[in-house]
Amino acid sequence: MQVAVVLLLLCIIAVAPSAFAPFAAALPATVASNLPEQVHVVFGGTRLLRPTSYVIQFVTLGNNAAASFVQFGLAPDPAALTTTVLGEDMPVLFTDADGASSEAAPCAQHERFLHSVVLNDLPQGTTVYYRAACHADGPWSDVFALKTVNHTAPRLVASVFGDMGSQMDVTSIPMLIQDTKAGAHDLVIHYGDIAYGPPNDCGASSDGFLNDIQPIAASVPYIFGVGNHESESEAANHTARYKYHNFLMRYGGQHALAAASGSSSIRYFSFNVQRVHFVLLDTDAWVLPEVWSLVKPQIQFLEKDLASVDRSETPWIVVMGHRAMYCTKAADAECNDEAEAIRYGFGNPQHGIERLLLQYGVDLYLSGHTHHYMRTHPVAQGKLIQRSYVNFRGKGVVHVQSGVGGVASPDPFTVPPREYDAFWDASYARGWARLTFWNDTHLEVEQYNAVDHSLVDSFTIVQNSYL
Ligand SMILES: [Fe+2]
Repeated sequence: MQVAVVLLLLCIIAVAPSAFAPFAAALPATVASNLPEQVHVVFGGTRLLRPTSYVIQFVTLGNNAAASFVQFGLAPDPAALTTTVLGEDMPVLFTDADGASSEAAPCAQHERFLHSVVLNDLPQGTTVYYRAACHADGPWSDVFALKTVNHTAPRLVASVFGDMGSQMDVTSIPMLIQDTKAGAHDLVIHYGDIAYGPPNDCGASSDGFLNDIQPIAASVPYIFGVGNHESESEAANHTARYKYHNFLMRYGGQHALAAASGSSSIRYFSFNVQRVHFVLLDTDAWVLPEVWSLVKPQIQFLEKDLASVDRSETPWIVVMGHRAMYCTKAADAECNDEAEAIRYGFGNPQHGIERLLLQYGVDLYLSGHTHHYMRTHPVAQGKLIQRSYVNFRGKGVVHVQSGVGGVASPDPFTVPPREYDAFWDASYARGWARLTFWNDTHLEVEQYNAVDHSLVDSFTIVQNSYL
């Protein structure tokens, strides 16, 4: 909802008269702690038209947040931020108490308000400047520069990875900040294992992580997928385990995007950007008995979703899940029984993902979880289809595992490569993958080193027909 400031004030009074009448005349002394932080942006939901709406999310730590505001314009000077938008949803009080152990300090000490404001119909391929506040008279955040996607541009660049916290010895964050400032990518997708906080810290680790990535996530859309470290499986409080509470609350700004794709959950959804159809899945469902119930709805969603893709509009389909369907690491469950459960279903072939990826000609499956970088040749049914990356759509899928965004310990390769394995990075360099969709036929995949931005691997997929 975009309104002029005068209308906006009337609207606020109508929404919360007790908090704003007389308007902001006597703001309490906690105003300084209401400075927005953890600013991050995701696409809003418009599937068919491709998103030109953006959801600005932020957090305030004060105790009197009754509204959410964003001012924006096309120049960085605060005086040029001439459009003020009031968030339609009230701020959500969030303590992550469900993730706290009974022995932890009371999470009331970690109260925070989650804000989201939707900016509709932003101009494409431009820089929109904005700032946020939880009161109409501030305090306002810094002014951020959001680079909006140009859906008609010939090229799209996405930085993608799994497994990244900020309190690690090496993370990709500084290099991704550098790339963001240089305009090197259009969006970021982090497919699970976010922040690596302990489950009993009342969400403090996620606060720190979101502040650390703010120079990235406030400037380009930063999409979050779910991984096992969001399960809170280690929570001492058993009622909290496998509830994914912190993920579902903190990244709730993705609900519009998920809903637009026909999903009722931000754990699995899809979206179109430019000429690419991205799908994010919750692969824990195929592995953790506590969330097996999410297999069937995801299969149903995925089949309907992939069947609906118009390849003349989005010739590229990229599916991402935190856990791999194909990986080769060790003789353990992760790259064997668990990967096969995702690939083929367990006991019910209809619950396997691979048949759908093949039927609908998915080009690329990306995963993390296992902490290294590797890629396959086009593969299907556990067999090498071809060594070439040219024209394999519908016959096989290429699998890339980039699960070293910023994680403490790499997973070494301890078993021989399989026939379909194409490249392993045995240096276990922390880093991220960059997908460059050059046009409708050429997709370049690169893996970068987080220490020096050097290239770890590069290959190009060429698909000359839709299917
Ligand atoms: Fe993981």
